[in-house]
Amino acid sequence: MATAVEWGCPVIHVATCIACGRCVSICPSYCLRLQDGKPVVDSGGPFGCLACGHCMAVCPSGAIRVTGRGMKGGEVFPLPLPSARATAEALEGMMQARRSARHYENRPVEKPVMDRLLAMSATAPMGFPPSPVGVVVINGRDRVQELAHDLVAAFKKWRFLKTPVGSILLRFMMDKPSVELMKNFVLPVVDTIIEARKEGRDLLFYDAPCVMVFHSPLKDPVEPAIASSFATLAAEGLGLGSCMIGTVAPALQGDKRLRACWGIPAKNFPSMAMTLGYPSVTFPNGIHRRFASVEFV
Ligand SMILES: Cc1cc2nc3c(=O)[nH]c(=O)nc-3n(C[C@H](O)[C@H](O)[C@H](O)COP(=O)(O)O)c2cc1C
Repeated sequence: MATAVEWGCPVIHVATCIACGRCVSICPSYCLRLQDGKPVVDSGGPFGCLACGHCMAVCPSGAIRVTGRGMKGGEVFPLPLPSARATAEALEGMMQARRSARHYENRPVEKPVMDRLLAMSATAPMGFPPSPVGVVVINGRDRVQELAHDLVAAFKKWRFLKTPVGSILLRFMMDKPSVELMKNFVLPVVDTIIEARKEGRDLLFYDAPCVMVFHSPLKDPVEPAIASSFATLAAEGLGLGSCMIGTVAPALQGDKRLRACWGIPAKNFPSMAMTLGYPSVTFPNGIHRRFASVEFV
């Protein structure tokens, strides 16, 4: 049985509304309209208020509030003036300086710093508010090593995929490019991680003091991927290093018990893991990068 979608509930405070109409023109769900020159909430249209908050963000007099779909009413806040925000140069410099960090100081990440990083990451765009993304924070080297231990045990089961029967199974489970990637990259990497662990080296999480796992109820990993991309930039801005760890997701996805052990809701898909910590290496140089193709058509 289909469950009814809860829509957002915009409320306009008529005494403070200056009838500029900006909320009406910005609303992507067309649930506001002008009536006698003043904005009113319109319940019509194929869908209701998405609770994206754009009407509150654009309102110069604070006359509109949205609740519902995760909004509780206190979300809107004044932004610093454009002159006080990061310039393109500052942002570009930060993006160019970001590197995947695989060497960390033996120093914990402070809770207020993690809270700030999570708040910064939560500014990421989402397909359909509110964000479906959940984050599990594994904090402290010992806890991270416990997770590494559990994952390496799960990786050991993947060795079966290198057998003739496993190869056939892989071909049933994945498309050809994914099978090639699995055979030529993922399985050898996982083997290296297993072997290194025997020698006390952590090539999965690089002895990071913190790991964050981004998950969502949707099988499509795009929303956790966007959120974790924002997190890597937030980390850079906060003087932290981070590294996306792709192999974690399939290992957790394939093991319900492991997900339960590590606080990931049973029905959610862990899509991306990210190490976090104070980097022990600094890079004086950047690297020019480009997309596989860019076409202006
Ligand atoms: C989806 C994804 C998965 C990744 N998985 C891993 C991983 O499992 N282990 C690792 O060391 N790095 C991983 N990385 C980091 C990349 O290897 C890294 O981005 C690459 O080395 C380029 O370095 P840079 O981020 O400093 O530009 C991953 C990156 C992405 C985007």
